[in-house]
Amino acid sequence: MENLRVMLDESDIPTHWYNVVADMPNPPLPPLGPDGKPVTAERMLAIFPETILAQEMSGERWIPIPEEVRAAYQLWRPSPLCRARRLEQALGTPAKIYYKYEGVSPTGSHKPNSAVPQAYLNKVAGIHRLTTETGAGQWGSSLAFAGQMFGIAVRIYMVRISYQQKPYRRSMMRTWGAEVFSSPTDMTQAGRSILAAHPDSEGSLGIAISEAVEEAASRADTKYALGSVLNHVLLHQTVIGQEAKKQLAKIGEYPDIIFAPCGGGSNFAGIAFPFFADNAAGGRKGKPARLVAVEPTSCPTLTKGEYAYDFGDASGYTPLMKMYTLGHDFMPPGIHAGGLRYHGDSPLVSQLFHEGLIEAIAVPQRATFEAGVQFARSEGIIPAPESCHAIRACIDEALACKASGEPKTLLFNLSGHGHFDMSAYDRYLAGELEDFAYPREAVAASLARLPKVAA
Ligand SMILES: Cc1ncc(COP(=O)(O)O)c(C=O)c1O
Repeated sequence: MENLRVMLDESDIPTHWYNVVADMPNPPLPPLGPDGKPVTAERMLAIFPETILAQEMSGERWIPIPEEVRAAYQLWRPSPLCRARRLEQALGTPAKIYYKYEGVSPTGSHKPNSAVPQAYLNKVAGIHRLTTETGAGQWGSSLAFAGQMFGIAVRIYMVRISYQQKPYRRSMMRTWGAEVFSSPTDMTQAGRSILAAHPDSEGSLGIAISEAVEEAASRADTKYALGSVLNHVLLHQTVIGQEAKKQLAKIGEYPDIIFAPCGGGSNFAGIAFPFFADNAAGGRKGKPARLVAVEPTSCPTLTKGEYAYDFGDASGYTPLMKMYTLGHDFMPPGIHAGGLRYHGDSPLVSQLFHEGLIEAIAVPQRATFEAGVQFARSEGIIPAPESCHAIRACIDEALACKASGEPKTLLFNLSGHGHFDMSAYDRYLAGELEDFAYPREAVAASLARLPKVAA
């Protein structure tokens, strides 16, 4: 019987996180303050503890993972690497398809890989209360869970449309002891001003971030935690790619192409950056592995955005980051992949994309659910709507291999399961799911309001 799953021992849980900054051809551009100058550590310390800030600014290639964090990772890591044999057969492709399955975590996605160290590093810094945002609910659940692990109270601003679409995500967060509110709320200045202008606002990650940052900055006992975008979050997620490399090496394989969904960039970085380290050293197969970020056509940050300094949130509370952006007040259409409804992208992912070292493509909503259903019907697992984006791209590549006869090795990050997204699947199966056209005018209007920065 052929092995379809490659497992690692718990002792194989990585001991270090990999910092891509050490291998980037050019140093990352600094975040800027309102005066256009690099933001001071003091300003960042209002919302992040020093323990996190040190990781955010680090240029060290390897950063040790504290034993307490590895011990918590043991609850679900190492995650399996699987061969999608039945999908290959269904497609009739000569390509080999592998996926790294992050849905085995307690919350059902990759997000606890960063929630756990963030809660731990706050605890070490003496912090007992955190605020955060959540789109899909995956990050909020993960921080609620991690807060519970380390005795930290967590308050979550959940994007209104997801709050309505995913009632059981709220229940999960409350089960792990967190407070959850539908954002925009009337509890913050940011929320109140959005509600005054748009009482029916569906909310967005940018708005929820503003609310969470505003609260953290206004309370001495509270810090803020972000589920993606920032360097330290991407760093934590590299346990995914490090394990995948080890698992593929065990069976003598190496990927030609890697796909991952891309919202703020953390799961993409998590699986892709450890392979980028090989690319930076010339590539394992004599050429670099192609690293492909997959985003929705309705919120196409990398593929249609502008590479510019912009705020990470809707109200302009965060420092300015150089990133691909659709404009900080862009309101993405209400697609079901709530985790991909973000106007910006990680500065590290953005810079690598700008320098041509990684790739990006955009796919429409219905085609992603079609891919998710095909995956579920061959491999069994029902993927999160975000993950369906990577599956779509991977299936398209496998079909191209069928046409060309090339037996490429493909790997994608199955970043989460879709057990709390079944209403979206219901709508797809009933033929009610819509494709949103690229919102050209809304993006253009939002980009026209980008902050002016001399650089
Ligand atoms: C299952 C899943 N995959 C992917 C993403 C995209 O986020 P990121 O690009 O930050 O990994 C999310 C975000 O919530 C998610 O929940």
